[in-house]
Amino acid sequence: MQSVEPILTKRIPSVPSGDPRQRHTVGLDEYVATGGYKALEKALSMEPAAVIGMVKDAVVRGRGGAGFPAGLKWSFLAPVDGGRRYLAINCDEAEPGTFKDRLLVDFDPHQVLEGIAIACYACQLDTAYFFIRGEYHHQAKVMQHAIDEATTAGIFGPQGLLRGKSKAAVECIVHRSAGAYICGEETGLLEAIEGKRGWPRIKPPFPAVKGLFGRPTIVNNVETLAAVVHVIDRGVDWWKSIGTTSRHPGSMPSFGPKLMGVSGHVQRPGCFEAPLGIPLSDLVNQFCGGMRNGKKFKGAIAGGVSMGVLGTDQFDAPMDFDIGVDYQVLGLGTACPTVFDEDTDMVAVARNIARFFKNESCGQCTPCREGSGWMLKSLMRIERGDGTSADLDLLIEVAGSMGLSPGSTICGLADGNNWAVRTIVNKFRSEFEARVKPVFVPVSVSAGR
Ligand SMILES: Cc1cc2nc3c(=O)[nH]c(=O)nc-3n(C[C@H](O)[C@H](O)[C@H](O)COP(=O)(O)O)c2cc1C
Ligand code: SF4
Repeated sequence: MQSVEPILTKRIPSVPSGDPRQRHTVGLDEYVATGGYKALEKALSMEPAAVIGMVKDAVVRGRGGAGFPAGLKWSFLAPVDGGRRYLAINCDEAEPGTFKDRLLVDFDPHQVLEGIAIACYACQLDTAYFFIRGEYHHQAKVMQHAIDEATTAGIFGPQGLLRGKSKAAVECIVHRSAGAYICGEETGLLEAIEGKRGWPRIKPPFPAVKGLFGRPTIVNNVETLAAVVHVIDRGVDWWKSIGTTSRHPGSMPSFGPKLMGVSGHVQRPGCFEAPLGIPLSDLVNQFCGGMRNGKKFKGAIAGGVSMGVLGTDQFDAPMDFDIGVDYQVLGLGTACPTVFDEDTDMVAVARNIARFFKNESCGQCTPCREGSGWMLKSLMRIERGDGTSADLDLLIEVAGSMGLSPGSTICGLADGNNWAVRTIVNKFRSEFEARVKPVFVPVSVSAGR
């Protein structure tokens, strides 16, 4: 395993090199005393375009789920025209099994704020909305306190960034979600900040051109922005020395360290920092103390339920952005796997996930609104033992027809439902077949007279 010093978790003691019991919220004084806000100072000494250039060269892929490169996204922004320009920071973190952004907010909020300040400077944005999951009551208070500290110290505020070192002034506002998974989708998030129902928008136009209140907006995940701090601080070559290039010539690499929250049937669940590309089995065995009670590995959700499952023979899958193509899942997602042991009922797992998506569908698109309900009903029938093989066929057909990839929905929630259910059924098919009654379609054959 490639070993890396703690970077994102430098101030957040974590297994294997630190003791999580020593964690505390790092305030402004401690953050500055340990090198904090140096990267912002460095960024402010550069032209904004040069900062974007560094983030582009480093190929910092988004940590919120889709893996889109941050520098490239930033370069899509509409030109400055004197009007307002926004950064929307995505801390919705409602993907089941995902608990990585809250680690940064809980214990090192200024690291996130430094990333926000750098992004605002580079992209010439004046207002940053920190959109935080409704259930994160404590984290919202921690972030508000950190913003107050940073504003009092002149890092944000009307005088310009870092006590007026740059004329670019940034206002930072915490916006608490009312609590719906769909508000994590970037345009649902924008609607929610505007005070509306969290209904994803049809794209294009993309937020970089027409986002919050119709103005150019960048949406980035909390961890993506924290990662940018270290790219600016230590340089592109250093960033590229961590992680891995793609196994597919011409495809984008997976550089940098990544927070990986592991849950499920492991000895020691938790959030760890590891280089992208670490095999899932190393993460489980070396960071989590192995499978719980010495049981065998049966499967794992790759990174948030939307990504689908890795099968029993895919325990060594490298946790990088190639995982989707190479291991028949949707992608790396949030890189927060949920691990299942040999005793897990995969039919119940599929039903539970389908229930989540049915409840969270916003209802705008018919395939998602209706399909999610059909899928849940079929899975409940199969789990009860009342299903037939026709239910299984219908389940796969309905799942495969909904999502952005088949081109039938506005957002990716339906793809998450589709991939989660299809991969579980395909990779654990015998469990489903054992629960359904076979249905034979009578075929009459008439031989020629
Ligand atoms: C249904 C759905 C829920 C999402 N939830 C989140 C979330 O909670 N946090 C997040 O950062 N991205 C979430 N995303 C991805 C965002 O739409 C967007 O790609 C991301 O915030 C961009 O940031 P990044 O490029 O820094 O990763 C979600 C996407 C979908 C389709
Ligand atoms: S795919 Fe589902 S969640 Fe997304 S916009 Fe359509 S109905 Fe809403």
